[in-house]
Amino acid sequence: MKKLMQMAVLALCQLILLSAANANTNPEETRAYSGIRIVGGDELSPFSRPYMASLRVFGEIHFCGGAYIGGKYVLTAAHCVEAVEDYADFVSVWLGGHKLSEPDGGRFYQVARFYTHPGYDNETIDNDIAIIELQQDVEGIEPVPLISEEQFDGIQKASVFEAMGWGSLGYDKGQPDTLQVVQVPYVDRELCNSRKHYNGAITKNMLCAGFDEGGKDSCQGDSGGPLIYNHQGTWYQLGVVSWGYGCAEPGYPGVYTNIFELLDWVKQTVPEL
Ligand code: ARG
Repeated sequence: MKKLMQMAVLALCQLILLSAANANTNPEETRAYSGIRIVGGDELSPFSRPYMASLRVFGEIHFCGGAYIGGKYVLTAAHCVEAVEDYADFVSVWLGGHKLSEPDGGRFYQVARFYTHPGYDNETIDNDIAIIELQQDVEGIEPVPLISEEQFDGIQKASVFEAMGWGSLGYDKGQPDTLQVVQVPYVDRELCNSRKHYNGAITKNMLCAGFDEGGKDSCQGDSGGPLIYNHQGTWYQLGVVSWGYGCAEPGYPGVYTNIFELLDWVKQTVPEL
């Protein structure tokens, strides 16, 4: 029985690693791992974003981020859920924590079920969004509000966002213990999609954020975590860490799921939000 369990663990870890690698659509895969966590960021002030979630297998292995959006629901990336869909019993969500080495700093919730966007495409990474329903009610944590139409209209070139996360599974040395945060400016869709950049890979369900010169970005293991935007003093979630060519490479900003375009699906899936 023990042996069987060990084999299951191994298979699961491999699955997760594989799918994280696949989420990097560019063939020059080797360069993709030049940075292995939030690149160029800082430690987030502890417990300042309690809705930030760490998705775990066996309560130990962090494999993706997520965000508590209210009720029993956590928003994440579809490519994060894809690898673990059949193993809901082994997946848990850690909320409100700061240091991975201090599990008691946050609280673990069991998974009731996963909802993946029906239009999710694991080749183009289009519609990279999923919702995790938890078994228990979440107590004492304010959810992050999702962006509304009016706020989305206000977003232009100069808008600065924040991405956060704990870094990469499988690259232990580079994995931070504490939650990291990085500020990245919005990149115009047309520019991001131009030949010198992502050359048409950016669908309307994606948005780009990062610096032309690179250096600051989200990275492997940050996937599923929130991209947030401050509007008149309140932080709203507008994106989900999704993919990118490498990390923090000049000319290749991070690509985030564009929540605004997928709000209808979110509302349909979780009517009480
Ligand atoms: N696909 C990655 C993950 O599964 C996230 C990559 C984000 N990349 C970037 N350059 N911003 O963790």
